[in-house]
Amino acid sequence: MEHLTVMATPRSDALVFFGATGDLAYKKIFPALQALTQHGELDMPIIGVAHSGWSVAKLRQRAHDSLAQAAQDSGGSVDEQAFAQLASHLDYVDGDYNDPATFTKLRHVLGAAKRPLHYLAIPPSFFSTVVTNLKQASCAGDARVVVEKPFGRDLASARQLNRTLHEVFPESSIFRIDHYLGKEPVQNLLYFRFANTVLEPVWNNRYVDSVQITMAESFGVAGRGAFYDSVGAIRDVLQNHLLQVTSLLAMDAPVGSDPTSLRAEKLRLFRAMRPLNPRDVVRGQFKGYRGVAGVAADSDIETFVALALHIDTWRWAGVPFYIRAGKHLPITTTEVVVDMKPPPLSIFDPITPPLSNYFRFRLSPDVVIAEGMRVKRAGETMQGEPVELVARHRPGPVKSPYERLLGDALRGDNALFTSDESVEAAWAVVDPALKHEHGVELYEPGSWGPAAAQHIVSSAEGWHDPAAEATKPC
Ligand code: BG6
Repeated sequence: MEHLTVMATPRSDALVFFGATGDLAYKKIFPALQALTQHGELDMPIIGVAHSGWSVAKLRQRAHDSLAQAAQDSGGSVDEQAFAQLASHLDYVDGDYNDPATFTKLRHVLGAAKRPLHYLAIPPSFFSTVVTNLKQASCAGDARVVVEKPFGRDLASARQLNRTLHEVFPESSIFRIDHYLGKEPVQNLLYFRFANTVLEPVWNNRYVDSVQITMAESFGVAGRGAFYDSVGAIRDVLQNHLLQVTSLLAMDAPVGSDPTSLRAEKLRLFRAMRPLNPRDVVRGQFKGYRGVAGVAADSDIETFVALALHIDTWRWAGVPFYIRAGKHLPITTTEVVVDMKPPPLSIFDPITPPLSNYFRFRLSPDVVIAEGMRVKRAGETMQGEPVELVARHRPGPVKSPYERLLGDALRGDNALFTSDESVEAAWAVVDPALKHEHGVELYEPGSWGPAAAQHIVSSAEGWHDPAAEATKPC
């Protein structure tokens, strides 16, 4: 088979990040910049932009604080040599995003750089102003732009945002980031499916009973109350991370490994997803959310969502994809379980899901690929019990999603980024769920969400319990 390769595009020659003094920069961007520097991928001007009245010295200090925090969290230490190199490239432009003078300063600091990568780690409400000002200050010419999620608030605003970006940048220069796509275990879903022959014959509605995807977080929204209260779980993680995971699980084989083929096949899948029926969606809010700083006292924003999604293709017709995500749930994990149908006839003991076969992909915090099977229990009767076959796999050093994705964007490789059409198709799926008629249902922190979420899954066994699976011996 002929493999298409990514067309060689020139590397970006500077990295500009808007929102340099913000939370995302502190938690994710500085560690990614440090790792890119360590790996020799960032030998270029790196310019932070924000409106905070800071100096470059203060930004460098902030970068060091961020790395020290990351090192403390991982039990390591800051690589001071790499940091010195990073700091020597780091510059800062302070100014209002509405003021053209900010962009004139940026053009000056960019010096001879002609192909900057502009990373907009800022609220979407600023995107339009920033890209327009970049163009007017001659900073957009051969540039690329990376935009953070959520990409818009709904289908209409995403379309508008695409139009705005396209006024300044061609689609090939726009990189819509979804950090889930930068995660190794998420990419492995695609690899595992299409690199193993045994899966394809059973990966369809003849053999798959249903699919469950759980993204559980045991923590709340502390520190991000104002942001979260303008978004909610549907916009924060469903429209992007979880629909992306669904697309990798359900898409047909791409005709090649090149970005265009991958993106085309994913787009077909997004378009086959049936727009959500609000009746199939349960929205919950953990008790105490309305007291979080930045959250409205009468907020109706969901911190939990559970739903049944349908994919109208020959492969998936009749197979529900159950998806749930929430804050303040019993554990922190993201897990996919593909439940297989029972054998056509129970010759021995009765076998129904979840007692029949399944595939389990734990994507975080640990990575597990397991297959649920049944074996005969020792004794005189033909009775069985479930066992798991677990794939032991020790990944080598893994890049963080932000290092991986920023590195790809600097090279112009958009395989792991979302296209304009896909992002709109994904919004078309969730849009009806945003127009809910009922208020959120409250749930106890530490529970699996409101009681109504249990009824989303049609089988009597309900949702798998990833907390129980966490304790299974490997
Ligand atoms: C972010 C959401 O995109 O993803 C957060 O805004 C969420 O609310 C986070 O906690 C989860 O990402 P990860 O990589 O920690 O699983």
